[in-house]
Amino acid sequence: MSVEVKTICCIGAGYVGGPTMAVIADKCKYLKVIVVDLNKDKIDSWNDEDLTKLPVYEPGLKDLIKRCRGKNLFFSTNIQQSIAQSDMVFISVNTPTKKRGLGAGEASDLKYIESSARSIAEFAVGHTIVVEKSTIPVKTAEVIKTILFSSQKGLENKPSKSFTVLSSPEFLAEGTAIDDLINPSRVLIGGESKDSINALVNIYKNWVSEEKIIKTNIWSSELSKLTANAFLAQRISSINSISALCEKTGADISEVAKAVGMDYRIGRHFLKSGPGFGGSCFKKDILNLVYICKLYGLNEVANYWQEVLKINHWQQNRLTNIIVKKLFGTVTNKKIGILGFAFKADTNDTRESPAINICSNLLLEGAKLSIYDPKVKFQEISDSLNDLNNAQDHTIKIKDSIFTASSFEQLANGSDAILILTEWVEFKNIDWVKISKLMRKPSWIFDCRDIIDVNHFGESDLNIWKLGFGSNMDNQK
Ligand code: UDX
Ligand code: ADP
Repeated sequence: MSVEVKTICCIGAGYVGGPTMAVIADKCKYLKVIVVDLNKDKIDSWNDEDLTKLPVYEPGLKDLIKRCRGKNLFFSTNIQQSIAQSDMVFISVNTPTKKRGLGAGEASDLKYIESSARSIAEFAVGHTIVVEKSTIPVKTAEVIKTILFSSQKGLENKPSKSFTVLSSPEFLAEGTAIDDLINPSRVLIGGESKDSINALVNIYKNWVSEEKIIKTNIWSSELSKLTANAFLAQRISSINSISALCEKTGADISEVAKAVGMDYRIGRHFLKSGPGFGGSCFKKDILNLVYICKLYGLNEVANYWQEVLKINHWQQNRLTNIIVKKLFGTVTNKKIGILGFAFKADTNDTRESPAINICSNLLLEGAKLSIYDPKVKFQEISDSLNDLNNAQDHTIKIKDSIFTASSFEQLANGSDAILILTEWVEFKNIDWVKISKLMRKPSWIFDCRDIIDVNHFGESDLNIWKLGFGSNMDNQK
């Protein structure tokens, strides 16, 4: 039996739900697409006439919203009505790591998934296909199914609603989300009901070729997403571990990564060393993997993946120590400029950004930070640092120690060092010779994203330290 889908709803208007639904609406003009969220401010921003106010920054997103919003794409807080009129409901809510209770620090908190499932159970009408889109621990579909199917109990004689559950994890990366959605490497759909799977395939078939659509059982689909993220993160920790060795031996990490990545069995992607991975997925997903491995008694497997996280954290602490050592062992009351706070370029997202740990370490050492990021608001920076400060029981007065800079000149003025933490393209065009004249001597640039070409510095008296570059170490001027 083929299932006709005319209206879809997505619960969660965040970094995944917003862009994903915008692309579906653009590619499937025949569908009505409604994105709902509990957060009224967020929905208001999605509906703002001024497209620079969208809550998510993604290249290409503004154009999509302009084309589809109000035509077949709608943003609403009316969760009840939106679910009731939909044939298919995507769950795209956040699943942060649990802060307390059973599994604290490792397991994902499924409270938002649970409340979404309860809303669907309550408000759905007729047959509804429920699609998990959030990155979730394996066996989450079980939780969703239990909630949905228990809502049907007692209705056997007049079944006004029925459900099927699919898992279709989203592989988009922030900063390239729109392109990833339009040209996905694969679309994964896990489930039992052939009709429901086909209904979702029929949506994707509008722009994705069928050989890229993989159909699996629901558990394989859930575990594939965790595994893909764990493998990607593991490559970053691997290359970051080698970056430290490069610095000791005189090798350059970019040369090593290129030589290694040209082996087709290894491949060149995700071999860029830096201040460690951030973002909402990698850490959370590995913690999840560690948690379920332990749950099933696979302690060696759990320990293996735990090391990927340890190296990531170590890289950030290692960087702070290098900076402090180069600045004569103390940064107390020294002004340090921070270029970039987002966890990667082309996003305004700061979740798990390496900048949070590194800035927090420097603040603990007594530094004053002047911070510039082209897309992250000061409030967001201050909140992220405050959260970590509180979580670690530190008592730094964040507001007194950080400042935003509105220009590179302002950031550099009187600073002892500038630290590049995000690879924003605009940082590539900075006139460092001009900037260096504004800094206190001896002045340092710590390039953690391989942005700077040291050949362009001529006789400048800047000290440049590049992460993983053993060939330009120990060059203090
Ligand atoms: C990731 C996965 O790539 C995506 O498939 C999944 O759906 C969600 O998680 P995202 O976190 O948005 O996407 O961005 P990604 O490009 O993977 O970068 C994650 C972090 O790794 C960033 O902090 C980035 O700077 C870092 N990174 C990435 C490196 O340090 N080196 C690299 O070579 C690649
Ligand atoms: P992601 O990166 O996974 O998209 P975000 O935090 O950016 O995560 O977005 C998730 C969104 O889901 C948030 O805007 C949050 O308000 C919303 N949300 C969480 N639980 C519910 C719920 N039960 N109903 C509606 N929206 C929800």
